[in-house]
Amino acid sequence: MNVFRKKSIDSILAESRNKTLNPTMKTMDLVLFGIGAIIGSGILVLTGKASAEAGPAVVFSFLIAGLACCLAALCYAELASTIPSSGSTYTYLYVSVGEIVAYVIGWVLIGGYVLTAATVANGWSSYFSRLLAGLGIEIPKEFYTLPAVGGYGNIPAIIIVLLITFILSKGTSSSKLVNNLMVAAKVGIVVLFIVVGVFYVEPTNWTNNFAPSGFSGVMLAATTVFFAYLGFDAISTSAEETINPEKALPKAIIITMLVCTAFYILVCLVLTGVVQYNRLGTGDALAFVLEEVGQNKVAGIVSLGAVIGLMAGILSFIYAGIRITYTIARDGLLPEKLTKVNQNKVPSTLTWGLGIITALLAGFLPLGKLADLANVASIIAFALVSYTTIVFYKKFPDLKRGFRVPGMPILPIISIILFGALLYSVTLTTWIIFVVWVIVGLIVYFAFSYKNSKLK
Ligand code: ALA
Repeated sequence: MNVFRKKSIDSILAESRNKTLNPTMKTMDLVLFGIGAIIGSGILVLTGKASAEAGPAVVFSFLIAGLACCLAALCYAELASTIPSSGSTYTYLYVSVGEIVAYVIGWVLIGGYVLTAATVANGWSSYFSRLLAGLGIEIPKEFYTLPAVGGYGNIPAIIIVLLITFILSKGTSSSKLVNNLMVAAKVGIVVLFIVVGVFYVEPTNWTNNFAPSGFSGVMLAATTVFFAYLGFDAISTSAEETINPEKALPKAIIITMLVCTAFYILVCLVLTGVVQYNRLGTGDALAFVLEEVGQNKVAGIVSLGAVIGLMAGILSFIYAGIRITYTIARDGLLPEKLTKVNQNKVPSTLTWGLGIITALLAGFLPLGKLADLANVASIIAFALVSYTTIVFYKKFPDLKRGFRVPGMPILPIISIILFGALLYSVTLTTWIIFVVWVIVGLIVYFAFSYKNSKLK
């Protein structure tokens, strides 16, 4: 039994040349797709909690998480420009480390993407009910309360996920247009918040109590706000649908990360500059701060934009989950039925399958804690990508690359250390659920995947 068998690079390059998916995406589409995935519940929902934890020093939490992700993004860019395959991390590991590691990380990532989409859907649902309440329409509480606490489940979250799954099943070009509109809404409200809020900044709010919980508070908040950066890797899963991916992917990843980091830092500066940090622990911090300074109309626009914009996050993460699962199934490690495409060239069974799972998770599980799980999955995958870049650097020095990480191997090593630090504050419960998920994956591997692998 050889669970560490590897795919050859040539076979992967041939596969992605022999595309069944339709290449339509260009750099700007990828940037919009990336921003659509990245900006979301992290900045709109979690920032308030993180600011309450770290104080104005939350800016450093964003910088630390952002630095780790930027370095990993460079590694992604190099690997994606070398192997443009929709399998992303999974494919890079299949070539360099071996089948079982690739499969397990692919399995972890599918769970991570689905959980992230479900978490964003939850955030969407709370903004949505708040927006309706603002318009005088009250949804009865039972319709967005979990059965465990006496409700029917989060019905708006279920409906929005199914609606987005329907859009995805119609094919990339229609999703692209809808996605671009949603991204515009999201970026629009972030800019609006910064531009309006900056006039109310009191610098004493920054200086009076800059880091109330010291360095540990900053690191704790860094683990939380890491969620805000999830999504840059989703760009590399679009490799097979991208025109000229060797150049377009790295460019798109780098532009996206710079834009998002800049936005996050500015939002935090305004948030903690306008209101004392200890009053920010609310789910809708941006709207809250605007209402505090009497900008109620702008607060309403921000809520509306969040409702429109968060849909892009749900879309991007279900999409990324579909693409990874598709690649794994194409390799025979998951049932081949999942790769069957409909007349729109979309793997529809898979799309609906993942969409329904996401809807159920979003509708019936307390996702606040499970967002941590999505974080763990991604931190481990990102650290492995950084590691894989070093393996590629040593093993395949002559392979054609559209982009090279500068300062090899120092930068990937720094990113691995930073990811290790981010894992430090993850709770035991999260680790246990994570390990159970991996064990289920291993059972599937030994019962099905090993026998059915195309490498056999
Ligand atoms: N980065 C994504 C968000 O903040 C997951 O919603």
